[in-house]
Amino acid sequence: MDLELAGTIAVVTGTSRGIGLACARQLAAEGCRVLLVARGEAGLLAARDAILSAGGEAAILAADVTIDSSASAIVEAAVREFGGLDIGVANAGGSAGPREFDATTGGDWERAFRLNVVHATNLLRAAATRMEAGGRGSAIFIASVSGSSPQGSNAQYAAAKAALIHAARSLERNPI
Ligand SMILES: NC(=O)c1ccc[n+]([C@@H]2O[C@H](COP(=O)([O-])OP(=O)(O)OC[C@H]3O[C@@H](n4cnc5c(N)ncnc54)[C@H](OP(=O)(O)O)[C@@H]3O)[C@@H](O)[C@H]2O)c1
Repeated sequence: MDLELAGTIAVVTGTSRGIGLACARQLAAEGCRVLLVARGEAGLLAARDAILSAGGEAAILAADVTIDSSASAIVEAAVREFGGLDIGVANAGGSAGPREFDATTGGDWERAFRLNVVHATNLLRAAATRMEAGGRGSAIFIASVSGSSPQGSNAQYAAAKAALIHAARSLERNPI
């Protein structure tokens, strides 16, 4: 497949395993230079090595995306490592608490929204400035079917993914 991404620069958050790593590997296979972001450095190094040994280009940044300042640090790292930023994939996400509503706390709900929604919008805001400078850019938010069809448990996750989908739809009608 040629998606005409050769030479572009991408950031994917939550990239040491799972969907984020699969996404980063596919982008690298398309010739994209990819910044991998997660909290654990060991997982990032293994992910980077897998991409390098397949002939791709990747760099890593250990960061917690729930901390507001990480968004600008991520964009700065992409510029430092590769000279710009064209594609931002906000993939890191999860339930951030127990699945049963009675067991959750207000803090669990706040953490779910921070991880799934605030991280994505922070990254987009930080990346948009850089993308404007480069004259192009794409932002991708990884949501879940739970955001449109609640599964009956894990309500804080479903609500956060619904909010993420709504944020994307709002932004698409009101471009930056
Ligand atoms: N798996 C599914 O069936 C499924 C279905 C629908 C949607 N999704 C969505 O797809 C995305 C990826 O899911 P997944 O199942 O592939 O996830 P996963 O296997 O649990 O991997 C999560 C990745 O995100 C990183 N991460 C977690 N918290 C982070 C934080 N605060 N800051 C930076 N990195 C963080 C993890 O590394 P560290 O722990 O080292 O930080 C890891 O690399 C999520 O948004 C999820 O909601 C998943």
